[in-house]
Amino acid sequence: MKKRILTGIRPTGKLHLGHYVGALENWIQLQETYDCFFLIADYQALGDHIDEMENIKIAVRDVVLDWLSVGLDPNRSTFIVQSYVPEHAELAMLLSMLTPLGMLDRNPTLKSERERISNTSLSVGFYTYPVSQVADILLPKANLVPVGEDQLPHIEMTREIARRFNNRYGEVFPEPDSLVGRVARLMGTDGQAKMSKSIGNVIYLSDDSETVTKKIMSMYTDPTRIRATDPGHVDGNPVFQYHDAFNSDTQEVEDLKERYTKGQVGDVEVKQKLILAVNDFLEPIRETRAQYETNPSFVDECIENGSAKGRETAQQTMLEVREKMGLYYASKS
Ligand code: TRP
Repeated sequence: MKKRILTGIRPTGKLHLGHYVGALENWIQLQETYDCFFLIADYQALGDHIDEMENIKIAVRDVVLDWLSVGLDPNRSTFIVQSYVPEHAELAMLLSMLTPLGMLDRNPTLKSERERISNTSLSVGFYTYPVSQVADILLPKANLVPVGEDQLPHIEMTREIARRFNNRYGEVFPEPDSLVGRVARLMGTDGQAKMSKSIGNVIYLSDDSETVTKKIMSMYTDPTRIRATDPGHVDGNPVFQYHDAFNSDTQEVEDLKERYTKGQVGDVEVKQKLILAVNDFLEPIRETRAQYETNPSFVDECIENGSAKGRETAQQTMLEVREKMGLYYASKS
């Protein structure tokens, strides 16, 4: 039997280049060897977007379109909407009883996210979302969770809670491994450490070539460089990080780097070559997306059929969980 993957994303917007090299690229490959469950975590998105139902609705479909356009295959893999499988909520609730508060307080990803949200608007649901994520992963008994680097503390928590459950009630859940993508953290177009929709420093997989051109032409480069004849820095320069990530002509990239550090090439030329590379990379993705955009009922089917299949697996796991925990009270059981 194939090993299983569960991974996912919150539906809060379209997917971008950072998602691609940080995670999606792995997912596409792993479909060959794993039974893959790809989750659209709408419950999780509600934790800090409860008043944005309309946006979530749009984003759920955008995520499906982005997935299809990069080559995630609903015939081989299972696309699941979290709230269509309410067992996610049931398992999250039960696992929350096995999770000490301190475990949440120690989670560094949650900690930095909480610092962004004021205490008055921090919901209980957001505070405890890592537990719900643990349930997402354990429900289909995933063996592997390919994710972006920021998600690693949640996978670590998953392992701890799986151990706690198994020790207490008997073996039910495998302890899943994590896998981070080729570029753990793609910088933003503004030079910040991370490409992020909330900062607005992103290039979307669905951006047209004109938008890509504009975004790259105004990208942050080496601030210490005033003239093209000044020696430039390649490290920490997002233009070169993107060349490394998306320009398949490695010889061109090496040549540009060499001339850049010697002050023999201007930023404009480096950016123009990057525009070509990124547009080459995105063109087939855009074409595929355009095809699926004309077929909304296909998107409906993906999430309905996928979620129905996900639910079957979830119900099997929940039977086992209830039995092991002893949640049966009839006189003859
Ligand atoms: N937290 C992930 C994100 O922000 C989304 C997610 C929800 C997830 N459940 C998951 C990722 C389970 C991996 C496994 O994108």
